[in-house]
Amino acid sequence: MSKIHAAITGVGSYVPEYVLTNQELETLVETSDEWITTRTGIKERHILKGENQGVSVIGIEAVKQLLEKTNTDPSEIELVIFATVTPDMMFPDTANLVADAVGIKNAFCFDLSAACSGFLYALTTGAKFIEAGTHKKVIVIGADKMSSIIDYTDRTTCVIFGDGGGAVLLEPDTEGLGVLDSLHKSDGAGQHYLYQKAGGSRYPASVETVQNREHFIFQNGKPVFKAAVSGMTDVVTKIMARNQLGVDDIAWMVPHQANMRIIESVSKMSDFPMEKVMVNIHKYGNTTAGTLPLCLADWESQLKKGDNLILTAFGGGFTWGAIYVKWAY
Ligand code: UT7
Repeated sequence: MSKIHAAITGVGSYVPEYVLTNQELETLVETSDEWITTRTGIKERHILKGENQGVSVIGIEAVKQLLEKTNTDPSEIELVIFATVTPDMMFPDTANLVADAVGIKNAFCFDLSAACSGFLYALTTGAKFIEAGTHKKVIVIGADKMSSIIDYTDRTTCVIFGDGGGAVLLEPDTEGLGVLDSLHKSDGAGQHYLYQKAGGSRYPASVETVQNREHFIFQNGKPVFKAAVSGMTDVVTKIMARNQLGVDDIAWMVPHQANMRIIESVSKMSDFPMEKVMVNIHKYGNTTAGTLPLCLADWESQLKKGDNLILTAFGGGFTWGAIYVKWAY
């Protein structure tokens, strides 16, 4: 019997309606459209407004769209993995909340936390259940409501992040389509450069943690930038080499959207022409686990069966990796 791979058979996505422009940010902190555009490539990002609106709202909308587009009955779904660092609550996992809201009753559901590499890690995890032959329909969601952990008085982070995400359906394929290879890395020494200090078990919420603004993201941008460029270039180059793929064999590189200069550097260092690199950072900013599925959704109509894609991401942890996917439809 030929090997089972996990084919991506559909994509759904969602970004909230409200658009936060660089111009509006100019009214909140000392920054400029010119600085944000030239240093990051971001023009606007979407923000989930309203009381009691968690990241589940994004996941629910993306999954509803996915089920509709793929004509899938919710009862057929056997596993839901939600990659996020901004869950609705510490527990229960947001994957359960999404499943409940859309009528998925026959699945087990869990969240996965790997910051900006979350979707990548979750895609590999979901694919393994398909490859094992134990599961036939798996949903992998990547989404974040970054605005819930952003300090809108800190110009070094508030201009970068946005809310949004997407979901993919994985199904078995025996014709060599789908997730064909994954290469993942972690380095806990990166913990000092990008984190949300409080709210976990080491620093539970207290008056002090709130007063010290420790429930917001902290990032030391420069070391993260350098590690992101070298980390993604390394895994992209390695995964291509071990699959005997040259640049001409790849239809698209799908990189995490953290900074246009990072994307350009990875493209240059791996000899990838920018025409074959998906870029939508100008519209959404950095949506953490949401960037890769948002790219797949935006390019879905251009993708063809058999197209080779290299997905790559880098994020807090540090976490990073690359996945080789042969597009299935
Ligand atoms: O997605 C997860 C992983 N995260 C990343 O991959 C992000 C990696 N890092 C980056 O993308 C970049 O480091 C940033 C976009 C965060 C910052 O860009 P940078 O070119 O590294 O700027 P910097 O932090 O070195 O700051 C340069 C200057 C500083 O001023 P001085 O000290 O030179 O006077 C900052 O205070 O730019 C200033 N600055 C700003 N100015 C206007 C920082 N943020 C802003 C701002 N508007 N929003």
